[in-house]
Amino acid sequence: MLTLKTLTAGAAFSALVFVGMSAISSTGRAANDRHAMNDNNAAQDEKQMIQTGLAVASTTGIVLNMSNKDPDMVGLGSYLVNVAIGCNGCHTASPTSEYAPGGNPYLLPGPQPPLFSGHEQINAKNYLGGGRDFGAFGPDTHIVSRNLTPDKTGLPEGGNTLTDFMQIMRTGVDLDHAHPSCSATVTTNCLSFPFNGDLLQVMPWPAYQHMTDRQLTAIYTFLSAIPCLEGGPGEPAHRCG
Ligand code: HEC
Repeated sequence: MLTLKTLTAGAAFSALVFVGMSAISSTGRAANDRHAMNDNNAAQDEKQMIQTGLAVASTTGIVLNMSNKDPDMVGLGSYLVNVAIGCNGCHTASPTSEYAPGGNPYLLPGPQPPLFSGHEQINAKNYLGGGRDFGAFGPDTHIVSRNLTPDKTGLPEGGNTLTDFMQIMRTGVDLDHAHPSCSATVTTNCLSFPFNGDLLQVMPWPAYQHMTDRQLTAIYTFLSAIPCLEGGPGEPAHRCG
């Protein structure tokens, strides 16, 4: 009797599971048919971001170093860096050097550079190399975007660990101490009152701090896959080795 009860209950349970599963999959299919791009399926949304991220990275002309990297994280990172946020818009020296000749979509159309050829093309030689000047914040100090490419250690933005990177993105702390606050004793290479010289200025970390660990890790992974570039404020000579 006991055995029979258990068996019956078990059979009823698996029948329920079976009905439930087919109900889910047929609703899923129906939703997919109606809105292929809006299926309220987070895993599917991320898959699309990863694919778009990898596709966009391949149009930049940069060669990614995928060795020992999770391709999904590189793709998601590329989506955040290149599609959703556009880090290169600030982390490249100037609007003219951001794009290759003929590749700047903001220009009037025309056959010859500096006009727009109709085909957007990033200038890979400056990609995330930093150097954009955002003007004076101190007596002799301008805020200039930093070089985010890996150095010879292979770690992103000049050898920072993932822990360092998360701290920078979440708190805005300037681990390089490039520009302390001006004071009675610090009068050069400093930020004027009331700017906090310990924190990154201009850089939108107050927004980025809300990203998830997975999103920040993806950005970090993508930044470790891009090629090293020389130059940028505060960078040593021959940083690429
Ligand atoms: C609105 C312009 C802007 C955007 C967009 C931007 N940054 Fe920045 N970022 C800056 C500036 C300017 C600095 C240097 C600030 C300073 O010196 O106070 C900086 C500094 C940084 C630093 C510190 C570098 C170091 O060596 O410690 C990191 C890391 C960084 N940015 C990453 C990113 C990433 C990743 C993105 C895209 C998700 C991004 N930034 C988007 C302007 C920007």
